[in-house]
Formats: sequence, structure tokens, C-alpha cells
Amino acid sequence: METLRLEGVRKSYGIGTPVETEVLHGIDLTLQRGEFAALVGPSGSGKTTLLNLIGLLDRPGAGRLFIEGRETSGLDETALTRLRGRAIGFVFQYHYLLPAFTAIENVMMPILAARGRPDDAMRSTAEHLLDKVGLAPWRNSRATEISGGQQQRVAIARALAMNPLLVLADEPSGNLDTRTADGVFDLLREVNESSGTTFLIVTHDPRLARRCDRIIELVDGRIVSDRPNADVVRRG
Ligand SMILES: Nc1ncnc2c1ncn2[C@@H]1O[C@H](COP(=O)(O)OP(=O)(O)OP(=O)(O)O)[C@@H](O)[C@H]1O
Ligand SMILES: [Mg+2]
Repeated sequence: METLRLEGVRKSYGIGTPVETEVLHGIDLTLQRGEFAALVGPSGSGKTTLLNLIGLLDRPGAGRLFIEGRETSGLDETALTRLRGRAIGFVFQYHYLLPAFTAIENVMMPILAARGRPDDAMRSTAEHLLDKVGLAPWRNSRATEISGGQQQRVAIARALAMNPLLVLADEPSGNLDTRTADGVFDLLREVNESSGTTFLIVTHDPRLARRCDRIIELVDGRIVSDRPNADVVRRG
């Protein structure tokens, strides 16, 4: 089953100004359910721009974007927000945890935003996720009281809180040391395999890209290569 499809997606910045520039020039891309794909390419090639469009944080200037076969261009802001909350989890390079809140409160935040008030089910989902990322003992620590790698794992738990269809990760291990980065990556892979969640992961690290099933390469706003990763031996 198809999670995501882009047809001829274009994006320009500075529309109507003298510096108007098109940065994505007609992207065609399909991700099937359960795919674990890397998005690579030089700085400025349009990776974050593409992730923002796929994550429904921004709209394409042209082309069509489908989530689970449903075209999104006709949706108003309310419908987009609802679809984003239900279907998409984000992991950014800088995790943007709310510093005044504890680990578990940060993980509960998206569920709280969707449902309005806290309940026991919400808390137990968050506890389960923190356990899964190895942070059960830190559940009541404030975001400022745990390490960078631990914060990133909280951010991953938060991205998974709504059991999203698709997780978009922009350099999820960009500011972590090699060993912590490997751990974060293992965790994403584990969720992918256990829940069938689709992943699209931006990385500058060829070593991590090689651990994905598919490598999509963007150069100057165009996909220049998109191939199954020969290095990966598919398990199961
Ligand atoms: N809000 C914006 N307004 C104007 N131009 C922008 C904006 N965001 C990005 N750009 C431009 O669009 C192009 C693509 O940027 P983008 O951030 O998508 O690249 P990237 O591949 O994510 O790069 P990096 O690897 O450095 O994160 C760049 O030329 C950038 O300067
Ligand atoms: Mg970027």
C-alpha cells in the first residue's frame, strides 16, 4: 500500500519578488508502506524544503501530493493540521523539546494537542514509548536535565506518540556522536520493522544512508538518483 506520492511537485521561494527562485523543479516520488528510505544530497539541494512539503507544513507551488492516496491540495488549514497530526511524525536535527516540561510530558504533547486533555491511556502510551527508547528511568526528568542523545530519543518517542503512518526525520543524528547516532538509527529501524511505519530520513552521513533500504538523491531541486540500497540485506 502506498503511503506517499508526489507528482510534479514544484516549490519557489520569494514569489512575486525580484529574488523569486524555484528550488524544487518537479519532484515525482512514491513511498510504499513500511519503506525505510534515505534522502541525501548537497546542502541547499532542497531536502528540508521537500520534507516541509511532505509534512504538510508548507504547500507546493505546483504538482500534487497524496497521503494514502488522498490528494491534499484541496484541504484547508484545519484539515491539513488534523491530517498532519494523525499521519505524520517529525524528528528534527534540533529536537525542540519544551524545556520546562518533563520527558513524559514532552512525549504526551502531540496526543494532548489532538485530544484536548490528559488521560490515563495517553500517559501509558507515553510510558511505553519512553520505555522503548530506553528512557523509562528519566521519564520525570526535565528536558534540560538529560543529555543530547537522550533528548533526541525523547523527540523520537514524541514523533511516534500518535502512531504515525510516516516519520520524517531531518538529520536526526546530525549533532550526535557516532555511537549515539547509531543508537538513534537502530531505534528508528526497530520501529520501522515492528510497526511498519514508513520512514524518510535526511542524512549527510553516507554510513547511515547505507543502512537504509533505498537512497533518494536530490541535487539542485531534482531527484538525480533513486535506488534500492544494494548494501542492505532485507531481513524477514
Ligand atoms: N524560507 C526560505 N526562503 C527563501 N529561500 C529559502 C527558504 N528556505 C530555503 N531556501 C532556499 O532553498 C534552497 C533549498 O534549501 P533547503 O533548506 O531545502 O536545502 P537542504 O537540502 O535542506 O540543505 P541543508 O543540507 O543545508 O539543510 C536553498 O537555496 C535555500 O537557500
Ligand atoms: Mg536542510
